Amino acid sequence: MTTMTTTKKRDFLTLTDLTLAEHDRLYARAVELKAERRAGKVHATLAGKTLACVFEKASTRTRLSFEAAIMQLGGHSIILDAAGSQLGRGEPVADTARVTSSYVDAIMFRTFGDDRLAAFAAASRVPVINGLSDGGHPVQLLADLMTVRERLGPLTGRIVAWVGDGASNMARSWIEAALLFGFELRIAAPVGFRPLPNEVHAMRAHVHLASSPEEAVTGADVVNTDVWVSMGQEPETAGRHGAFAGYCVDRALLARAQPGALVLHCLPAHRGEEIAAEVIDDPVLGAAIFEQAENRMHVQKALLELLLVT
Ligand code: CP
Ligand code: NVA
Repeated sequence: MTTMTTTKKRDFLTLTDLTLAEHDRLYARAVELKAERRAGKVHATLAGKTLACVFEKASTRTRLSFEAAIMQLGGHSIILDAAGSQLGRGEPVADTARVTSSYVDAIMFRTFGDDRLAAFAAASRVPVINGLSDGGHPVQLLADLMTVRERLGPLTGRIVAWVGDGASNMARSWIEAALLFGFELRIAAPVGFRPLPNEVHAMRAHVHLASSPEEAVTGADVVNTDVWVSMGQEPETAGRHGAFAGYCVDRALLARAQPGALVLHCLPAHRGEEIAAEVIDDPVLGAAIFEQAENRMHVQKALLELLLVT
């Protein structure tokens, strides 16, 4: 007689969906996969596996890095854009998730509200990965944390400055990371674009609101920014441009940080708005930004292995 065991599917919707030990193993495996790819070593750890990537917002890096990740590990990917599918015509996300999960082994979902993400994950029978929602961008954080570890070692005890929209998906994921890993996060954001008071209160041992970009960046090991207008916020563009004037990461601001401080940006970037061309286009100052983008692929390979084959 044979017995069938069923294992509960694991989602990756926020950073805390992995334990600290799993985070450590994930970055170690990602570094290994990166070195092996550079050495030309080929893996087939995800042979026979199919990943669906479902997009309700635009993407360059997320789409390409997930597709490359699963294909380089011997699997396949299928892309579904809302505009070209029934999602764009109002089919409920739960129905889309239920059907899609009957075809594939994992689904990456990029969406708007976290209620849509939760409904999608609840209806899926296979692991769901948050590929960006209004509430967070955890796969980007995996790449960012890997990049910082490669360059500076563990973040514990370090100071990270956030300059820009303190209520954005990226800022929220950095807040989550500060709590999880125990580093100091200083957020400089205009009034009206700060994290909710209850979020800061709950995390006040690690997260501090700075009164200016200069205050946040002084002595920081990492200086981080993102666009002033996130996807879906386009109608607010004029008001946001007014509010964020002065929140630009330029050389003068960076002069206050630790010598050799890392500059991070998840991309896409708007030169002359949240980051100066003299920073992002400088071969030294801007280098980590493009390493973050590359590391998306390496760390997502490790994540797919963790969710699908371990
Ligand atoms: N950083 C990031 O997620 O980029 P895309 O929007 O191009 O996927
Ligand atoms: N905060 C940005 C991140 C893009 C990767 C947005 O949501 O548009």
